[in-house]
Amino acid sequence: MPEYLSTAPVKGTRDFLPAEMSVRTQVFGHLYEVLERYGFLRYDGPVLEPAEIYERKSGQEIADQQLYTLTTRGGERLALRPEMTPSVARMIAGHAKSLSFPVRWYSHPNCHRYERPQRGRVREHWQINADIFGSESANCEIEMFELIHDLMGALGASPDLFAVRVNDRNLLSSALTDVAGVAPELLPQVFALVDRWEKTPVEDLAAAGAEIGLADKEFEKLSETLGAGAALLDELPAEVKAESNLVKVLSSSAASLVRYEPLIVRGLAYYTSTVFEVFDTSPKNRRALFGGGRYADLASLFTKERIPGIGFGMGDVTLIDFLDTHGLTPQPRNEVDVMVIPVAEELADPAREVAASLRKAGLRTSTPLELRKLGKELTRADKAGAAAVVIVGEEDWAAGAVTVRSLATREQRQVPLAEVAAAVNGLISP
Ligand code: HAM
Repeated sequence: MPEYLSTAPVKGTRDFLPAEMSVRTQVFGHLYEVLERYGFLRYDGPVLEPAEIYERKSGQEIADQQLYTLTTRGGERLALRPEMTPSVARMIAGHAKSLSFPVRWYSHPNCHRYERPQRGRVREHWQINADIFGSESANCEIEMFELIHDLMGALGASPDLFAVRVNDRNLLSSALTDVAGVAPELLPQVFALVDRWEKTPVEDLAAAGAEIGLADKEFEKLSETLGAGAALLDELPAEVKAESNLVKVLSSSAASLVRYEPLIVRGLAYYTSTVFEVFDTSPKNRRALFGGGRYADLASLFTKERIPGIGFGMGDVTLIDFLDTHGLTPQPRNEVDVMVIPVAEELADPAREVAASLRKAGLRTSTPLELRKLGKELTRADKAGAAAVVIVGEEDWAAGAVTVRSLATREQRQVPLAEVAAAVNGLISP
């Protein structure tokens, strides 16, 4: 017995068969359309990058646990990109001289992270990235939040189905030090603790707090501060708030698009102020749908110029889970609109001729590659989701006509060649 290789894709990666791909193409098509309506331009880049850019900027979780690295025969240490932001920062820095800032760019890369596969997490995911480079204005934040609402709206999600939870890392630092009394040198560890807050039982949080040196009373004060929700803003020093783009957003007409949430911090190391995560309001999907933030100096890896950026990455897995949960997933598209079937092999050429004219008229059209009995071909056309078949018979053809049959009503009639496209179009439901 020969030993066959597995037909399953590598663990944590996915195959997309045509039906699933059709759903994805529709979903992403809606998103590209919205992005382009805002003036975002699409870019792309390599899946391989120097491992160093993630090790220096993405933060420990990605660098130590999730990076797929390899060493080339030439000795270069490379990584499969776990995210797009360092790559786009590299591109922006490399072309800064020819760009007129601010610029709005989007992409749709596949990203690789060595994570434990589970609901919402795989090892290769696709992520729509949208970023604005070269502006520190709070208008960027406002535009991001409007964009997020329009993207979700384009997928059929009403605003009650999701929440955009926002924070500013500078407000959080101030809340931790000025309100909760955390020692400044503990901030990095406390940020990491806050990042786990909502996913971790309180006793484990307290134990982790003790481990980094927080006394019981200090941990209690920390819990109370973080639990204050929007009221926490009132307790923060005015000079800290004056510097915050998020505070500007919260006092603008865009305030209704977001919810201030002191617990949002995000795992990536490079965010410097605004951070946000979009959540499903259904408890079925507890993980963030997608997230992003502002980064002041990611380009500094590559250039001495300071190029601030703000953006987000929207993952395919969490997004499609969301659409499934709320019954918003589109139906796969049918294979063809119409099939042209010759009743005998000798009529294959005329059938091809009719098919070519229908394609020219914009109809998705196929002809049988291996001709079977008419009944079998009709079943096949039904399965392909065709609205009509065009039957090419000898007598019809001699009279300059074909038979057009509706697959919905099974009615058929003879149609002159010049009118076939119109007749088929009339049978396609809008
Ligand atoms: P991130 O939060 O690491 O941010 O990932 C963004 C989104 O990508 C997540 O919310 C999730 O939808 C999806 N995602 C991440 N890892 C996985 C995984 N293992 N499996 C499935 N989906 C996943 C970033 O990557 C930032 N670079 C986003 C950004 C763009 N910030 C500014 N601009």
